[in-house]
Amino acid sequence: MTENIYPIYDKMMTRADKEQLLHQRGVMIWFTGLSGSGKSTIALGVERELHKRGILCRILDGDNIRTGINAGLGFSAEDRKENIRRIAEVGKLFVDTGIVTLAAFVSPTNEYRQMARDIIGADDFKEVYVSTPLEECERRDVKGLYARARRGEVKDFTGISAPFEAPTNPALDIDTSKQTLEESVNQVLALILP
Ligand code: ADX
Repeated sequence: MTENIYPIYDKMMTRADKEQLLHQRGVMIWFTGLSGSGKSTIALGVERELHKRGILCRILDGDNIRTGINAGLGFSAEDRKENIRRIAEVGKLFVDTGIVTLAAFVSPTNEYRQMARDIIGADDFKEVYVSTPLEECERRDVKGLYARARRGEVKDFTGISAPFEAPTNPALDIDTSKQTLEESVNQVLALILP
């Protein structure tokens, strides 16, 4: 429903004004991969490094989104799509404010990631596939969810009883079982820093 809605975008300070103020460019780094693959860990490392360099950054991840704006959404295909849609819309607001935005979500299908790319705009969207194999994610099982999913206690669990489609053309592919956290963080920083 956009009837009776009158955007004030033409009166607001622009993205360029904000980027000039911050001396940085807004961008979305979109991490996708299985639960336990290392998405949030890498995002936290990147945030720390950017902060040290005086670059303003915002992480969006499951804990601050699924307990906040997306509380109430589950893991059906429909809910996951709505989860990703809202994250992309929120992320766009950050990117349009000139902020380096790091989104760490399973985002399991090409369709959902394409939707996020379309909302944010292809020029501002960099996809990082954290491709750590299922066996390694399951071995780590940080949250104990894989064991529960194997026992049938968590339904539609990505990688076990719900699908994950690997991205076809990510800007970066990081397998955290093959390289150090520092190496992964540096690769992502190279995507961001001029
Ligand atoms: S997404 O598929 O909608 O993108 P999202 O990244 O927000 O998923 O949430 C995934 C996190 O929720 C996982 O890391 C895991 O901790 C938890 N989780 C709980 N149930 C499930 C499930 N059925 N499938 C995947 N992750 C789940």
